[in-house]
Amino acid sequence: MVISELYSRARKMLADGDIEDSVFDATCIMEDALGMTKAELVMRGADKVSEETAERVISQCEKRLTGYPLQYILGEWEFYGCGIKVGEGVLIPRADTETLVDCVLEHMKRKNITAPRIADLCSGSGCIAIALKKHIPDADITAVELSGKAIEYLVENARSNGTELRYIRGDVMNGGLFSHFMKDSEPLLLDCIVSNPPYLTASEMEGLQREVAFEPSEALDGGHDGLKFYRVIACLWRELLKDGGLMAFEIGEQQAADVTAIMEKSGFCDIRVIKDLGGNDRVVCGVRSAQAGEKRS
Ligand SMILES: C[S@@+](CC[C@H](N)C(=O)[O-])C[C@H]1O[C@@H](n2cnc3c(N)ncnc32)[C@H](O)[C@@H]1O
Repeated sequence: MVISELYSRARKMLADGDIEDSVFDATCIMEDALGMTKAELVMRGADKVSEETAERVISQCEKRLTGYPLQYILGEWEFYGCGIKVGEGVLIPRADTETLVDCVLEHMKRKNITAPRIADLCSGSGCIAIALKKHIPDADITAVELSGKAIEYLVENARSNGTELRYIRGDVMNGGLFSHFMKDSEPLLLDCIVSNPPYLTASEMEGLQREVAFEPSEALDGGHDGLKFYRVIACLWRELLKDGGLMAFEIGEQQAADVTAIMEKSGFCDIRVIKDLGGNDRVVCGVRSAQAGEKRS
């Protein structure tokens, strides 16, 4: 078989199986299996393909037809210009999450903070922490994640992107983690806490899109109303923020009002809602206010 025949077969298989972006997916699978760009696939269409490569492409297309995510098949996905390795057990980075990275970078630039101390809670693959470290090389970034499988990806992604991160395997709902942010019995206060926590509601968890159902439920499930992580993180982790420090959350597109209310109740000010490139509410952020007479517990 030659490249052009295999390419047509892959495209037809996925189109016949009602894969939404069948041409895109077939192209990615071909590029990955043959180690060629799309232009090379076209220009070298008459070249022969080994039986092994052809079988690999066909079996990956078959897997894709079951709804298995393209990103897990490829094993790597781009986020904010960084190659992020992904597979079963770790959430696939979404383009919408780049809005959260933009928000933090813009804050640091505006405040002229060149060596911020940042915690990325619910870090998953580490995509947010890695993108931030790439753009603020002097930042001291700690990634916190509960899943052991995700931590494996996070460590590998930090290494392959040449970024130095600290990481903690632990539960962000538990203030016990604060012991990792102490030096000489004093808290190491943070310039920023950033988080894309699980935020789907119980009913959304029941109606997951076929592809999303392959991703770990603990990366998606935000409790009955989707808000449990926001309530705890805003109230608990606020204690570790410097006065004027930024807390920035990714949110589901219907959650802006609820998360804003949670942040107001937790004593944040300058609360803003930021839209993603699709025009949906995607980030809520606010700063810790230095209220008169307020004491850190
Ligand atoms: C929505 S994913 C975000 C992953 C990554 N930050 C991103 O933007 O792609 C949420 C992550 O939170 C982790 N997680 C869930 N419960 C947690 C907890 N109690 N403490 C720490 N991490 C938790 C999940 O394992 C998952 O990796």
